[in-house]
Amino acid sequence: MVSAMVDVADVQGNILQGYRHPRVRHLILSVGDAAEARAWLGATVSGAGGVPQVTSQAPWDEKPSTCFNIGLTFEGLRALGTASQSLASFPTEFVEGMTARALKLGDIGDSAPERWPAPFDKPRDIHVIVSVHAKEVADLDRVQRQALQNARTFRLLGVREGFNFHGDYVHFGYHDNISQPRFAEIHDPEDYPDPQEMAPLGTVLLGYPNNFEGLLWHVPDPVELGHNGTFNAFRILAQDVVGFENYLTEAAKYLLTQAGVDELLPPGAETKIGAGLSREAALREIVAAQMCGRWRNGVPLAVSPDTPDPATPIPEKQLNNFDYAANSSCPYSSHIRRTNPRDAQIVQRVANNSRRLVRRGIPYGPPYDPAKPDGVEAPERGLLGNFIGASLGAQFEAMCTDWVNVGLQDPRVTGSNDPLIGANAPETGWFDVVLKSGRTFRLRSLPRFVRSRGGAYTFLPSVSAIRYLGSLGK
Ligand code: HEM
Repeated sequence: MVSAMVDVADVQGNILQGYRHPRVRHLILSVGDAAEARAWLGATVSGAGGVPQVTSQAPWDEKPSTCFNIGLTFEGLRALGTASQSLASFPTEFVEGMTARALKLGDIGDSAPERWPAPFDKPRDIHVIVSVHAKEVADLDRVQRQALQNARTFRLLGVREGFNFHGDYVHFGYHDNISQPRFAEIHDPEDYPDPQEMAPLGTVLLGYPNNFEGLLWHVPDPVELGHNGTFNAFRILAQDVVGFENYLTEAAKYLLTQAGVDELLPPGAETKIGAGLSREAALREIVAAQMCGRWRNGVPLAVSPDTPDPATPIPEKQLNNFDYAANSSCPYSSHIRRTNPRDAQIVQRVANNSRRLVRRGIPYGPPYDPAKPDGVEAPERGLLGNFIGASLGAQFEAMCTDWVNVGLQDPRVTGSNDPLIGANAPETGWFDVVLKSGRTFRLRSLPRFVRSRGGAYTFLPSVSAIRYLGSLGK
């Protein structure tokens, strides 16, 4: 990846392009000794003294077996001794931190920060989140040992680890990681046909033009600290797989009682949804597809409304090649249409492409096997999500607040939440299953399937910024 617009060797890796390593370990750290921590940061630029070297977005001939990246919270920047004038130049939402923004993110009730387990119950102690990507656990262990070789530098507050299920599937059984913003000069438009606008670099990096004419996100001071950096919402999102699958069954049973269900699933069309499926099982899959906007195998409803297995199979690279025409078969309320309305008319018109987020997520916890149901103490499972963009407020928070949790983008869904990830409650939650004629079946008593179990807003500094922080006080 070579670009005339940006020195990619100065940008931390996994931002402009994903690593696609099967394993990730996040080390959640508190600064023990500020001077040692600064020296450690400086050493990560070159890998001096056996400290792991930070991985940049510089092109590689051969994929490294491990990658190593650093995120800093506002408290972390402060603990490292960043000048107060510089601290004051960071955006408010980052300064306040994720827990203070709970209402905007739907972190209420069971998901409220007061319910988060350690170390997320003491957000001010969280200073640094180191992310190690690798194929093997032994490599994660080795890099962790190298990173934490000096016990005085950091206190290890907690560890969160995830691993990729075969084929990029996530809990709930969907194929994920298909749609990502692509950046001019970084991605080859021929390689992955996608009719969406290329995202300007300023969508994800500080210091470049974004979608808003005449508006640049403020680059924190000094410029060597802010330029080429970006912000990340690190989220630990527990998924209630059993609750989700049970709801699909309830919804299918309900739909079977409705006159007009044949319009949704013409008799005999069950085999189009899956070989050997009963009517109820086929309806379950239709509801799952409408909630996401994609069939569980990743095929978009907008392209293939009647079957996840079209007669002419859709190649992997074509799975993102669609827009939302006026009569698209993708429900307005579905997860992917809410989080990226593409070309669809929305209430906040200039916002269509301005909230594109780079998503780097990986499942954690054991896959759910219906043949071996969980015991009484069900293990926690979910997604370790990273939602990256140049403005947490105008992108991630705006998406969570008015698109995911209110549905402001389209009056037909306003007042409802995202069916998959929204802060739903059975008393108020609903989702409209859409028929070809435009009629809808309203599913009610929609519970919350995804709960927040921790997280932090981090700044992902450029390589120059890491060097700069390492030199503070010298
Ligand atoms: C456990 C939680 C989540 C699950 C299981 C989940 C699942 C999915 C799936 C299956 C897709 C479709 C695959 C693709 O298009 O790449 C998707 C897309 C997407 N999700 Fe999520 N997601 C979760 C949380 C979130 C959150 C918290 C956000 C942001 C607030 C988000 C934003 C997006 C975006 C922007 C897309 C791409 C839409 C597009 O470009 O068409 N997701 N997600």
